[in-house]
Amino acid sequence: SNDEEKTEDYLFKIVLVGDSGVGKSNLLARFARDEFYPNSKSTIGVEFQTQKMDINGKEVKAQIWDTAGQERFRAVTSAYYRGAVGALLVYDISRRLTFDSIDRWLNELHTHSDMNIVMILVGNKSDLKDAREVTTAEGTALAEAQGLFFMETSALDSSNVAAAFQTVVKEIY
Ligand code: GTP
Ligand code: MG
Repeated sequence: SNDEEKTEDYLFKIVLVGDSGVGKSNLLARFARDEFYPNSKSTIGVEFQTQKMDINGKEVKAQIWDTAGQERFRAVTSAYYRGAVGALLVYDISRRLTFDSIDRWLNELHTHSDMNIVMILVGNKSDLKDAREVTTAEGTALAEAQGLFFMETSALDSSNVAAAFQTVVKEIY
């Protein structure tokens, strides 16, 4: 087959989940376009971006889906998760309530997605050091207990953003 066909062999659907305001849309904006929005509005419905990635010298495409954390703005749940092979479960290290919600998001993922979906727990806003409410050790412990990968990221200063997406795609691939 030609090169164009080869790239089509690897299109991975990845979903972003987590409470409103944790930074899902900004993680996607940083990863796909290297942009950051200091005053972004809540997502309404569903958006997605396709991003080419180099995994072990092979080009793969990640189709990354983003919806609202708030129930009333969310996409139809079953359609959102359908066909997803990877997920980023995002909380905000400066808001404990968003960490407490991770159990609920995990339940939703387990209910609606494939058994083999690859998941990473993401503690976003690691730049907000003085406002931290969730320690790195707590994130690590939850991830270990639930069998998830784990990383702290910052969409603002870019740290670990690409690494978080790459961890998931590498494991799927
Ligand atoms: P919903 O669409 O409502 O579910 O929210 P969301 O999870 O998509 O959050 P969004 O990306 O819109 O970010 C919410 C706010 O947090 C915005 O004001 C962002 O600028 C800010 N934000 C996102 N990521 C970071 C980060 O890593 N550090 C800091 N300091 N702020 C961030
Ligand atoms: Mg959003």
